[in-house]
Amino acid sequence: MVEVSTSILSVKKGEESKTFFALETAKTDYFHIDIMDGKFVEKDTYDRMIQNASYIKRISSLPLDVHLMVKDVKAAIDDFLAVEPNIITFHLEACKNKEEVYEMIQYIKDNHCKVGVAVKPNTKIEEIYEFLPYIHMCLIMTVEPGKGGQTFLTDMIHKIEKLKKQVEEQNLELDIEVDGGINLKTAPEVKKAGTNILVAGTAIVMAKDFKAIIDELKK
Ligand code: DX5
Ligand code: ZN
Repeated sequence: MVEVSTSILSVKKGEESKTFFALETAKTDYFHIDIMDGKFVEKDTYDRMIQNASYIKRISSLPLDVHLMVKDVKAAIDDFLAVEPNIITFHLEACKNKEEVYEMIQYIKDNHCKVGVAVKPNTKIEEIYEFLPYIHMCLIMTVEPGKGGQTFLTDMIHKIEKLKKQVEEQNLELDIEVDGGINLKTAPEVKKAGTNILVAGTAIVMAKDFKAIIDELKK
């Protein structure tokens, strides 16, 4: 079954409350929280996302899917554990070596949270293979991380297929999440390639009917 994780990055200021309630009613499976530090990527959404995530935690029982686009992974994990996420995903590219990747995986697990590792479009998918047995999810970026509303990079389909094959070969239980430029046009191919969690921001938030688009994405 395919699940939908709605990125709240593009929710307008002042419309948070009504949008979050409407997304829950429309049965998003997760709230996807995009944390940017102004270093790993240009934008800085850090404080706004702490506020939004804490607010969602108070009003909703839906799981939080935290996507860290930050350089200092450990500090961000510490900050975001407070909102009790269901899963924390950090970028492979933010770590200086393999040891640090293993350390972050363990640190998140020690704090009773599921672990995801994300790869940017230019990172070879093979780089993540050795970590797969230790994580719950791999997030494949289908745009350059940094902002919402970008165009899906079609080359990434091949990467998803490769990962799916690897997951099957290693006989693992692993979620494959895809993030960036997902909409009703791009979703079918992405699902066919093996993704089981779709992140969508603008496609959902800009839609008139949240329920209709979420239902369609899940099909
Ligand atoms: C990009 C973020 C995504 C993105 C999704 O850096 O990680 O979550 O905002 O937004 P859309 O669906 O608009 O590409
Ligand atoms: Zn994201």
